[in-house]
Amino acid sequence: MSRFDGKVALITGAASAVEGELMGFGGRAAWRMLREGGSVVIADIADERGEKSVAQMRDAGLDAAYLHLDVTSEGDWSAAVNATVSQFGRLDILINVPGTSDRDSIINTDADTWQTVMDVSSRGMFLGSKTVAPTMQKSGGGAIVNVASMAARYGGQYGAAYSSSRAAIVAFGGSAAVQFAPMGIRVNSVLPGWTHTPFTDALFNDSDASQTRINRTPLKRWGEPEEIAAGILFLCSDDASFITGTELVIDGGVTAALQ
Ligand SMILES: NC(=O)c1ccc[n+]([C@@H]2O[C@H](COP(=O)([O-])OP(=O)(O)OC[C@H]3O[C@@H](n4cnc5c(N)ncnc54)[C@H](O)[C@@H]3O)[C@@H](O)[C@H]2O)c1
Repeated sequence: MSRFDGKVALITGAASAVEGELMGFGGRAAWRMLREGGSVVIADIADERGEKSVAQMRDAGLDAAYLHLDVTSEGDWSAAVNATVSQFGRLDILINVPGTSDRDSIINTDADTWQTVMDVSSRGMFLGSKTVAPTMQKSGGGAIVNVASMAARYGGQYGAAYSSSRAAIVAFGGSAAVQFAPMGIRVNSVLPGWTHTPFTDALFNDSDASQTRINRTPLKRWGEPEEIAAGILFLCSDDASFITGTELVIDGGVTAALQ
């Protein structure tokens, strides 16, 4: 008996799951959930990469599908949930991974950039939770894990929209946990630290920027996407059956050192 036998998961922002290439959190979580007995729908806007990932999973005999889903689109969410249920018959788990970042100071950031960053994080998470919850309830309950960031916990010289949007994910998780508890749905957030994925590849390969991050991390290294996926899957599993409305920080000690 595996942890996710019979479970169906929708994982957004998981297109980077091609074996032999750099994977993201969602990609790693997808492979691991499939190998632990689950069925997985990968949803993203990076369609070519997502299709390639799913082709590899199916070649490996695993039960995966790919869907185009822009998390800011309410219509895309409805279509994705309907397609998941018509193919797999149920929906037990939602893992929300997408994010985008602003790379300048508050003064130099325009309102459109601010809105895009907020929309991908907070509008996406809101629409996703709202759309999946009734279907999860019909499946007997479930688990939602939203990927935020340790950046929800501190300020910096750039990325004010990013930090704000990530803090919104954490705050939303509290309300969703309270409102969805009677539906048998748990909601939690994961706050990763610096981890080598496609999202951070440029920083990782810039030796000064990379070393600065290693110096600020008590464990003195970058995280691996597998280490974030392990936390995400724990929160999705029955091992976390009494955990809801909380945050799991996986950052090698960065935020502990700030306190
Ligand atoms: N890598 C890190 O160090 C780190 C640390 C903390 C938080 N995060 C957060 O983790 C998340 C995942 O990043 P990752 O590191 O796994 O990299 P990743 O590049 O694999 O994941 C991001 C994915 O989101 C998708 N995406 C972007 N906009 C979308 C939209 N509107 N609709 C659907 N999909 C969309 C991208 O196509 C991409 O596949 C991001 O939200 C990032 O903010 C990353």
